[in-house]
Amino acid sequence: MTFTLAADAALLKPVRIGDTTAENRIFMAPLTRSRAHADGTPSDLAAQYYAQRAAAGLIISEATAISRESNGAYANTPGNYTDGHQAKWAEIAAAVHEAGGRMFMQLWHVGRMGHPEISGVETVGPSAIAADMSAHTPSGKQPLPVPRALEVDEIATIVDQFRLAARRAIDAGMDGVEIHGANGYLLHEFASDVVNQRTDAYGGSPENRARFTAEVVEAVAAEIGPGRVGLRLSPGGGAGDVREVDTVSTYEALVERIAPLDIAYLHLLIDPSTPTFGALRALWAGALVLNTGREVDTDFCQMESLAGWGAISAAAVGRAFLANPDLIDRLLLGAELNEPDVATFYAPGPAGYVDYPTLDEVRVASA
Ligand SMILES: Cc1cc2nc3c(=O)[nH]c(=O)nc-3n(C[C@H](O)[C@H](O)[C@H](O)COP(=O)(O)O)c2cc1C
Repeated sequence: MTFTLAADAALLKPVRIGDTTAENRIFMAPLTRSRAHADGTPSDLAAQYYAQRAAAGLIISEATAISRESNGAYANTPGNYTDGHQAKWAEIAAAVHEAGGRMFMQLWHVGRMGHPEISGVETVGPSAIAADMSAHTPSGKQPLPVPRALEVDEIATIVDQFRLAARRAIDAGMDGVEIHGANGYLLHEFASDVVNQRTDAYGGSPENRARFTAEVVEAVAAEIGPGRVGLRLSPGGGAGDVREVDTVSTYEALVERIAPLDIAYLHLLIDPSTPTFGALRALWAGALVLNTGREVDTDFCQMESLAGWGAISAAAVGRAFLANPDLIDRLLLGAELNEPDVATFYAPGPAGYVDYPTLDEVRVASA
């Protein structure tokens, strides 16, 4: 399917997201690529990969761990908790800026999606309820273990680790950070009334389940300034069968608590025709980034309409950006898009990472 974006399209207009001005409203969604070194240092190819995609209004990095213990869901995912990590991210931020782009770093803790064979430590979560999923560990596919419920003082430590990783991201030259509150990882697990069975201040009511994410956003905003903080949420679902019985009230409580902080943007991974989207849109006066993906490819026609109406500030696009470094040029020309190669999403090395051709390269090759 091709789509032609008019030169005066709403998606091509600049947009202010906190302290950053994005040159257009087509953002690159966070994409784990599993090319980092075993110690969490990003790959030598990462600067090239991200700089190739600098025409995105904003690049949101792959999920990046805030601590060694938080990095247990997949092998070779990066971190930002050592000087070595930070130095490599500084090269990446510089390469993206040099190419004219803007970049936020997505920060995560994988929670009960972690496996000790990858993280090296016991798996933790809000409650002792396992995700009905497997991890790809060094010794093969293993069921995810029953997590240990975090103690309250451990929650405070993790809040602080988010803060420190955010500080490192800014010191590395990133334009901001996106807190990963989506897709079934730790912060999402706390929001879920299915996975979070706690009876303390972090469980029970929607307000209590919102507390951990809110504390992370508050701590990070206090450290680096609210205009450099985004938050990603996936109301209604995520990997690891995390969900909510009452999605609307869960996320209303979270968004109401976050709203006064005036952060750079809220990033929702959601179908915009759902009541949840309508309810949250009504509560959120700030910039809103939408990613409709998962089962369906992004419908650029729908995104353009939503941006034109002001329902969204920007569209985040994952797989199409992964496979098309020159996505925006292709949309302007109505050109065919490269198909993403699923087999190399998480495979090591340059294939399927830095070798997707631009239109110009296709033309040269076929001349
Ligand atoms: C290979 C791959 C890696 C992903 N990694 C992340 C990630 O690190 N953080 C995140 O929040 N979402 C991640 N996602 C979800 C994407 O950001 C996005 O929500 C999803 O791909 C749907 O959007 P799309 O249809 O535009 O690809 C990943 C998706 C894919 C396909």
